[in-house]
Amino acid sequence: MIFNFFVCSAVKEIPEKLEKFLKEIEFPFETRISYVDRLSGTDDEIKTQLKSAHVVIGEPHFAHLLSNPEISCPNLRWFQSTAAGLEYFMKMNPCPYFPTFAKLPFVVTRGATFYGPTMAEYCISMMIAVQRSFFKMKEVQIKLDSPYVDRDNYTKFPLLSQLTVGIMGATGSIGQDIARRLYALGCTVIGLCRRKRKEGEPIVTPQVETPVNAHLPPSELCFEEMYPILGDDEKQTSLRTFLSKADVVINVLPTTLETIHLLGGRLDSEGKEIPSPMESCKKSCIFINIGRGTIIKEDVLVDILKKGTISHAVLDVQEMEPLPSSSRLLTELSPDQVTITPHCSGWPQNGDFITPLLKENLSRFAAGMKAEESALKEGRTEEWVPDLLYIMNWKEGY
Ligand SMILES: NC(=O)c1ccc[n+]([C@@H]2O[C@H](COP(=O)([O-])OP(=O)(O)OC[C@H]3O[C@@H](n4cnc5c(N)ncnc54)[C@H](OP(=O)(O)O)[C@@H]3O)[C@@H](O)[C@H]2O)c1
Repeated sequence: MIFNFFVCSAVKEIPEKLEKFLKEIEFPFETRISYVDRLSGTDDEIKTQLKSAHVVIGEPHFAHLLSNPEISCPNLRWFQSTAAGLEYFMKMNPCPYFPTFAKLPFVVTRGATFYGPTMAEYCISMMIAVQRSFFKMKEVQIKLDSPYVDRDNYTKFPLLSQLTVGIMGATGSIGQDIARRLYALGCTVIGLCRRKRKEGEPIVTPQVETPVNAHLPPSELCFEEMYPILGDDEKQTSLRTFLSKADVVINVLPTTLETIHLLGGRLDSEGKEIPSPMESCKKSCIFINIGRGTIIKEDVLVDILKKGTISHAVLDVQEMEPLPSSSRLLTELSPDQVTITPHCSGWPQNGDFITPLLKENLSRFAAGMKAEESALKEGRTEEWVPDLLYIMNWKEGY
């Protein structure tokens, strides 16, 4: 038996690392590795490799090809995504996620743990830059040729240890990475998640540790309060209470049917717009969106900022990307009200970010394949129950 590993990624070091790991874990079968650079590769190159692949590792941008009837991937068992958000799979046609929740013949695992550290540093630097008006100072320096104009305006700001930061998606892999860094800096951290944990169940599932996290406090220590919102009443009491307590709200929720327009833009049964839960925020609140732009309708966000319901929004993600120059975020708001960045907060700097999870999942995959082979030799045809980390749950959508 030969296992074909197909790497389709912009992270060029993956094939080399993969080869090394397969040796280190003594992968019990012969292997072949092929590589297509996701940025320069053509659909035809990708399709050719998919036909023989048993394992795919890479960005899921070509997920739609997997359901194309012309391309069969008869051998595919496992897709290790390098991305954390898997909405690319929802665009497959027919879409396996909605409405049938049909089962894919292969398992998909998310690129959890790759992005958290860089996204956490993005949030912390933006919190400080906005609170201390660093962008404004730069503007003044450029315009007036002197950084000393209006100095008094720049001397009133809170310390990080005086801030309560609310993380939406706090129990997720990225949310935990952010919480651990904020807690270490003295912030009070509160979290929002979906599911209420059973008694005795830990609030957060510990992550596969990466070297960059080694010195940080464990995530279960970091949260002052956690607000699960699944099954909350129509008024979304928990969500509103959570929002009302935070000086900074960081959204890192995935796009799912439940999270689309959760913060504003939903209609009631008569087609009337439901007031945005963000009406409960403090007026001084800074909203940092690094999850997905789908969390709030752009028009609602613009109106909220214009009314002064919150003080500032930092948007790394937008409803429409790339953001068109006609967007109201650009035409109707000033840099004092909004800071926009081009979906760059999370970036796995190099192959090292991918290492711990990839190695762990490869070992688990090898054990599963070995067990399957033994079962076959003994005449049993047991289905492989994947024991991989961060398996995509199609029903829940993340
Ligand atoms: N801007 C960027 O560059 C960038 C980069 C990477 C990822 N992202 C985005 O970040 C997202 C999160 O990634 P992740 O790896 O942290 O995901 P994850 O580990 O799957 O965590 C998801 C989190 O969201 C919560 N959640 C899900 N649905 C919810 C709902 N309806 N209501 C309340 N909470 C809900 C989960 O709560 P439970 O624990 O209760 O299930 C969990 O805390 C990705 O899906 C992607 O959209 C952005």
